[in-house]
Amino acid sequence: MAPRKSAPKIKPSKRPNPPNPPKAPKPPKPLVAGNWKMNGTRKQLGELRKLATALARKKAKAEVMICPPATLLGPMAAVKAKGVLLGGQDCHANVSGAHTGDVSAEMLKDAGAKAVIVGHSERRADHGETDKQVKAKVEAAHRAGLVAIMCIGESLKQRKAGETLKLVQSQLRGSLPNGCTAKNTVIAYEPVWAIGSGLTPTVEQIEAVHTALRTALMRRFGDEGAKMRILYGGSVKPSNAAELMAVPNVNGALVGGASLTAKDFGGIIDAYR
Ligand code: 13P
Repeated sequence: MAPRKSAPKIKPSKRPNPPNPPKAPKPPKPLVAGNWKMNGTRKQLGELRKLATALARKKAKAEVMICPPATLLGPMAAVKAKGVLLGGQDCHANVSGAHTGDVSAEMLKDAGAKAVIVGHSERRADHGETDKQVKAKVEAAHRAGLVAIMCIGESLKQRKAGETLKLVQSQLRGSLPNGCTAKNTVIAYEPVWAIGSGLTPTVEQIEAVHTALRTALMRRFGDEGAKMRILYGGSVKPSNAAELMAVPNVNGALVGGASLTAKDFGGIIDAYR
């Protein structure tokens, strides 16, 4: 009998490991930031102490920040309020120089800031700041190692004319430099007509804008754009915070008037407890 031919050995095919499924980026930790605008003297430092005490008692699942006037940054930093980050409200694009009355991002950092608001609609209106100038300020913040909280938003006229999405997308494009990351940049959508007016867009309107911004950020910055925080701002109060903060792609709030007292600001932070 002819010897049986052994069956040819079949080499296990070298199948490449299945590709790792793309990891869904971790949802960003929300940020609740208070913009004190041109309000507050050292008398109000007590509000910061009260806020820190409340946060120590009841931890928040969000980062908490106060952006006081530049004159209060040093005194607030000296309070060493645990759990409350500090930020500036604006910065010059340059490091230093002959710019009377201006403050650089480096100076804010030196005074204790971790972030700086840029392009707030009040700066765009009062000081005629353009997207190009705002972009230079974002770059300045990054240069100094600060997080840039870049604000955009439409006027009532633009909202009524149906121009909201086009406008905020164009502001986003024009006011952000290349290379922004989720660590160094936060977007704040603040409809101008909602600021200080007690009016807020509907949750559907907010979702539509935030979703469009998320899409634009992901297209431009990839995963970083997916993780970048997009805050909502404009008449956020303790009574509406939970509803507004639950809107998809809303990753926190930028709060004006209601951030001036620990009681109201704490009530907003409660949305994340
Ligand atoms: P209000 O919360 O007072 O409406 O202000 C919003 C704002 O402009 C925060 O930057």
